[in-house]
Amino acid sequence: MKNSALRLASAAAAAALALGGCSMAVKTERIDTPSEQQQSTSPQIESEGASAAEASAKTDSSSKSESSAKEQSSSKAESDPQKPSSSRAEGTAKEQPSSKSASTVNEQTKPQQDEQPESKQESKQESKPRATGISISLPSNKITAGKTVTPTVTLKPENAEPEEYILTVSDSSIILINGDSTVTALGEGECALTVSLERDSSITAQTEITVTPKPDPLPTENVFIKGILLVNKEYSMTDEIDPGGLTPECAAAFDRLVSAAAESGYSLYSLSDYRSSAEQQEIYDSYVYQLGQYGADAICALPGHSEHQTGLAIDVASYSTGYFPGTPEAAWLAANCADYGFIIRYPYGKEYATGYSYEAWHIRYVGDAAREITDSGLALEEYLLD
Ligand code: DAL
Ligand code: ZN
Repeated sequence: MKNSALRLASAAAAAALALGGCSMAVKTERIDTPSEQQQSTSPQIESEGASAAEASAKTDSSSKSESSAKEQSSSKAESDPQKPSSSRAEGTAKEQPSSKSASTVNEQTKPQQDEQPESKQESKQESKPRATGISISLPSNKITAGKTVTPTVTLKPENAEPEEYILTVSDSSIILINGDSTVTALGEGECALTVSLERDSSITAQTEITVTPKPDPLPTENVFIKGILLVNKEYSMTDEIDPGGLTPECAAAFDRLVSAAAESGYSLYSLSDYRSSAEQQEIYDSYVYQLGQYGADAICALPGHSEHQTGLAIDVASYSTGYFPGTPEAAWLAANCADYGFIIRYPYGKEYATGYSYEAWHIRYVGDAAREITDSGLALEEYLLD
């Protein structure tokens, strides 16, 4: 199978515009493009009158040349009203590269032709049938606004002589034909993309394009998922939801947790809980001073990105130990905090998800979901986002 590309006869495109009388038109000229040989697609809509030639092509098993084609548009030519007068001459000049490309087709399909006399090659080229049908297809007929796609134009029969065609769109505010073989979805709506042979405009095909609106980017500020506020390096909070202290639910839950720990013989207390934006900045700056920014970012959040500012996080310590991780108190906290609505927010081995190294002491109040999150073994990011 051999695909070919259509090269724009740029100046002639303006004349093609007049012919088409549509909102936008492109006139193209086919050349061979070996690198695109893998890109052939089945035609979606075919013009009437193609069936006989198509049947003929299908029965010709020796035919290697598929007339798949791509177009390039002519925004320059279209915007230059002085061009049409010169387009005829340029169109004639285009005959030269066109016949050169036909020669390339033969070289690729039948290498031995290199040894044949030139006159024989020309007579073989001339024996190619004229196109009797055309089709156009897109990778998808639903395109998001802002996306650019490349239509595929196919001539019938498969071994048809390359020739020029015109692309038009029914609404240029929805689809724009670019100058690089592509079309761009501009605005929401339905639009017809039509291809016609320049030689015979009755040889035509059409495909419908639906342009869907560009989705709004996902918010990353004050985001609640499953009713849980997500604050991390990517998701921030604003001062509007800064509670100015631990939330009443979190404070009450922590009191119950401390009481339960005491009943089991563990002394726990809050070393650091709510922190204002200014306090968080101060802590962050001191870490930068001690460890540099890279070191600080591994263990400390920027203001607006710290759970301490949400009033839902507490750094737990124990009166019976200095360094908390690895102690029986830390083990009790990890095993029981979910019963009081807390999770170990930065678990061991979850740095890739949380962005922070393991913190045995930082618990986050999430309420009823705490047990499910803990038992899932997922970091909060994985639980909420995946
Ligand atoms: N240590 C945690 C990441 C904070 O600074 O909020
Ligand atoms: Zn903390």
